[in-house]
Amino acid sequence: MVEREQWASRVGFILAAVGSAVGLGNIWRFPYVTAENGGAAFLVVYLAAVVAIGLPAMLAEFVVGRGSHRNVVDAFERVGYPRARVIGVVGLFTGFFILAYYSVVGGWVLRYVLASATGAYFGKPSAYFGAISAGLDALAFHAIFMATTVGIVAAGVREGIEVATKLMVPTILVLMVALAAWALTLPGAGDGLAYYLTPDVGVLVSNLGTILPFAVGQAFFTLSLGMGAMITYASYVGDEDNLGVDALTIVLFNTFVGVLAGFVVFPLLFAQGVDPGDPGPGAIFVSIATAFGELDATFGTLPVGRVLGVVFFGVVAIAALSSAISLLEVVVSYVLDNYDVDRPAAATAVGTLMFLVGVPSALDTDVLSLADTVASNLLLPLGVTLVVVFVGWVFGRQAVEELDVGTGEGETLESVWLWHVRVALVVAVVFTLALSVAELLGAEVLP
Ligand code: TRP
Repeated sequence: MVEREQWASRVGFILAAVGSAVGLGNIWRFPYVTAENGGAAFLVVYLAAVVAIGLPAMLAEFVVGRGSHRNVVDAFERVGYPRARVIGVVGLFTGFFILAYYSVVGGWVLRYVLASATGAYFGKPSAYFGAISAGLDALAFHAIFMATTVGIVAAGVREGIEVATKLMVPTILVLMVALAAWALTLPGAGDGLAYYLTPDVGVLVSNLGTILPFAVGQAFFTLSLGMGAMITYASYVGDEDNLGVDALTIVLFNTFVGVLAGFVVFPLLFAQGVDPGDPGPGAIFVSIATAFGELDATFGTLPVGRVLGVVFFGVVAIAALSSAISLLEVVVSYVLDNYDVDRPAAATAVGTLMFLVGVPSALDTDVLSLADTVASNLLLPLGVTLVVVFVGWVFGRQAVEELDVGTGEGETLESVWLWHVRVALVVAVVFTLALSVAELLGAEVLP
């Protein structure tokens, strides 16, 4: 068996985890899910879910990961509960399921970097998206995206993931801030911000039944929770780190980029008079692309729309890649801990399988959309429920001791966390899961 790696530094771990969290969830998924679920009203519930549920749940995954220094399945056995391995098996399955379609969307994004440079979608954004989002084109770029992901993971935890994310995450941060600063200067930015930031209490109350599961599902998706990505990344952490501070840092960065993405997307849409409520996973490609096309036309011969288009989709591509590697790493880590193969072989084999699972999504955007909803509203809440019940009620005091290894400051705060996990979190995630199931079955539970 190949020897297990560790992050070269604490900053390396934090950047890798931020890289995992910040991704298509923040820039592709968040704006359209927000638009479909009542705009600012959704934002409020989502932010509350990130703080009250996401942060403590992330810590629960960290404790299992660092406490075991093992992959998502064997971690549970290592900390003393072999039967809980089944939680990890669910995680592996979910990872497969998500990266399969995530890579298809990643492929669209790569395609849009090129298309922005040449202006391929200018004047016909809907038709263009329709032509490339499903079929052979989509399949080809799905393959390119997956191959790039495999390439990074094959290079190792330190030499691949850590090196890559150390370059990628600062790039994302700088370019997103720059894009937001520019978007805020657009005429019409004010209307966009108003839509984004002024919650309508009426909308909130009358749609709580749908807003809640989507907001919590979005919180899990964007924080990479519910399938063991954070268990796996934390398994490469040394014992001296203060995991609570790390989790807080990661959540803050992710929320910052997520909120910032709204500052880019909504002003841009309103400035060009595009309807943000235009639903579905194609929304950002069609509407944002429309905005860049019109911008390019406004400036005559200056390729302003093209340049900004390349920058925008370039950032999204980097963010998507730095997330995809964490999804792949979960499964690769499992294979490496259990079978006598080397990392490049494991990464290639798993990546190829995931590519194949993604083929139906590359051929039909409705399949992709369904896979995304099932993953975020069902599989991730299920995964978080299992982990939270395990850490709260089975792992229990051991979890507090594991947290304390890195802090060594007495256990008051850790105990508060444990009881929050045991009661509030368990209730919240079980409730969300029930709502999601009802929602998917088409029942009206809340008004
Ligand atoms: N968080 C990433 C995003 O927002 C996606 C992601 C990466 C993910 N790893 C994950 C989602 C693990 C769920 C579970 O795009």
